[in-house]
Amino acid sequence: MIRNRFSCYCILCAILGLALVWLLFVTPSTALAQPKGPVSFINDVAPILQKNCFACHDAKKKKGKLDMTTFEALRKGGSKYDPIAPGKSKESLIVELVSSKNKDRMPPPDLGDALKPEQIAIIAKWIDEGAKLDAGVEAKTDLVRELRIRYVPRLPDAAYKFPALINAMAFTPDSKKVVIGGNHELTVWDAATGKLQRRIFTRAERAMGMQFLPDGKLVVAGARHGQEGDVRIYNINAGTPKDFGGFPAVDGVNDKTVLVKELLQVDDTMWGMAISNDGKKIAAGGCDRIVRVIDIATGNIEHAVENHADWILGVAFTPDGKGLVTASRDKTAKVWDLANKESLLTFPDHQNIVWHVATTSDGKFGFSAGEDGQIRQWQATDSAKAIGKATKALAGHGKAVFHIAYHADPKTPLMASCSADMTVRTWNPVAGAALKTMPGFTDAVWAVAISPDGQLVVGGAANGDVRVFKTSDASLVVNFNATPGYVPAKVETPKK
Ligand code: HEC
Repeated sequence: MIRNRFSCYCILCAILGLALVWLLFVTPSTALAQPKGPVSFINDVAPILQKNCFACHDAKKKKGKLDMTTFEALRKGGSKYDPIAPGKSKESLIVELVSSKNKDRMPPPDLGDALKPEQIAIIAKWIDEGAKLDAGVEAKTDLVRELRIRYVPRLPDAAYKFPALINAMAFTPDSKKVVIGGNHELTVWDAATGKLQRRIFTRAERAMGMQFLPDGKLVVAGARHGQEGDVRIYNINAGTPKDFGGFPAVDGVNDKTVLVKELLQVDDTMWGMAISNDGKKIAAGGCDRIVRVIDIATGNIEHAVENHADWILGVAFTPDGKGLVTASRDKTAKVWDLANKESLLTFPDHQNIVWHVATTSDGKFGFSAGEDGQIRQWQATDSAKAIGKATKALAGHGKAVFHIAYHADPKTPLMASCSADMTVRTWNPVAGAALKTMPGFTDAVWAVAISPDGQLVVGGAANGDVRVFKTSDASLVVNFNATPGYVPAKVETPKK
């Protein structure tokens, strides 16, 4: 009996051992197996280069004098020679450098992770097959643009495994629901009960800014970080919902009744978006440092303003629609005169990243929120002498202020802000006075919105937590995690 049991264990051991050997050795080598059929440059190789190399080897940075963002430039090589020797992967500089165990490895060891063996194998196989460019792609084709056009968006997860960071949110025009950006979708929640009402699939991976138009359609500035940015208009009530993960969902990628207009597509993240007070124009800006002003009816880009030295993070129109107020990673906020195409003022006081901007409804004051934890009020349109003069600092947030929402009520203007200090705060923006602090978040609060009726304020955090408060007394109306199907991991209590 005992012997039997032992031999039993031995078989078990052997099986377990074999499984381990299989896991350790067989799995990686099958993963290393060469891709079936010929390797495609544009579909297989270029995405690896884009993800791991373009940050330093694009037309602007050209580290080692090498630009890889067109096939032609890649083959021209950098300060050395053509990094690709067709048919001979072992003699190709690119393979030598990505597989190097020394300091010369690409990406440089202190600045990026090594390519995975299977990624190196794809590049090597493509070179051994002759390093051909796909039919239909020109040697001069901008690879970033080509990859963006070829990109096919994936569906969101039916039930998320991880909480989704919130970058943007907006109340519906009736103040009853909150729209929140998820991963490849917008989600619509009841602001009183916190129940998920609808999921709207989007091509964009992230929603970075959103605002409703006077006609009730929703403008969303989106991103697939480092690869594409967009501005699209949605009718969030249209479409025939189908069940997705237990919730009604509509297709904002292909259903043209839901996705009503595509206004802009660029090659990098769009961070900030604003609608002019007359509801006719949209301004949007992001990593390419250009703020584009688009006429909604015609879809024409009327202005392309390049006025900052780094990413645009926040955009607002002046109340008369004639000027733009912008926030940038270049540590300044600026005001731009659209008609005369000139910079009216630069506000440098944050001395750190400026995340967002707003103006009072009379346009007299501008506000900027920064990494320095301050919301600064400054004169925007007064006499030339005083222009840009800091008038007040709205202090209180202990850490970076990411977003400000401005509620242009002529009687009681209201501003709300959110911060890395895990609070939402409200302000009387004109007096520059702090009103209420809304706590209870357990992560940095990235997004904030005020309901059109002025009664509610909502904040959305990096861990997906959403809290809706009453503006009047800062009491909590509802809190929920805006991640469909996500169940927070239970902390195991060790048994003794
Ligand atoms: C963080 C920046 C960075 C990243 C990311 C990076 N490189 Fe480089 N690369 C450099 C720098 C800097 C040099 C110049 C090194 C020198 O001259 O000593 C260089 C040089 C090169 C060269 C030699 C060019 C020449 O002719 O002198 C090749 C080839 C190269 N990189 C390939 C790659 C590939 C392939 C990737 C992605 C897998 C990559 N690099 C990612 C910074 C980077």
